[in-house]
Amino acid sequence: MIKPDAVEANNTGKIIDMIIDAGFSIKAMKLTHLTKGEAETFYAVHKERPFYGELVDYMTSGPIVAAILEKSNAVEDFRKLIGATDPAEAAEGTIRKQFAESKAKNAVHGSDSDENAEIESNFHFSEREIVG
Ligand code: CMP
Repeated sequence: MIKPDAVEANNTGKIIDMIIDAGFSIKAMKLTHLTKGEAETFYAVHKERPFYGELVDYMTSGPIVAAILEKSNAVEDFRKLIGATDPAEAAEGTIRKQFAESKAKNAVHGSDSDENAEIESNFHFSEREIVG
């Protein structure tokens, strides 16, 4: 996902360019707006964390771009491309280093495993919205 802070700041195109330049192909993509219930479900794994309420409020504060990306070693390579959760700790050249405002408003989300990538893909897209 490209998160509300990055969409609002008109960084969507630059972020997509970086993703394509890094060798990912886009299998599905849409601009959408999560409802509170959807954001709560998407981040249910963080329900007990102190930042959960803030995270849900933020993720519903404006439109997001959801995408399914394909590449060999995609999960690990995408996490390298986006950088650390906290932009202060993100490496030079990463998406978060360049575009994230803070640990909460951190520009992008990437799945943390192949299993979660499949769950999150199915959360955002129906089969007919996915290319190939
Ligand atoms: P993301 O990769 O989408 O996964 C969980 C999100 O929770 C994370 O990016 C951040 O946006 C958010 N998050 C993680 N830690 C904190 C924190 N300490 N304070 C606020 N938000 C956080």
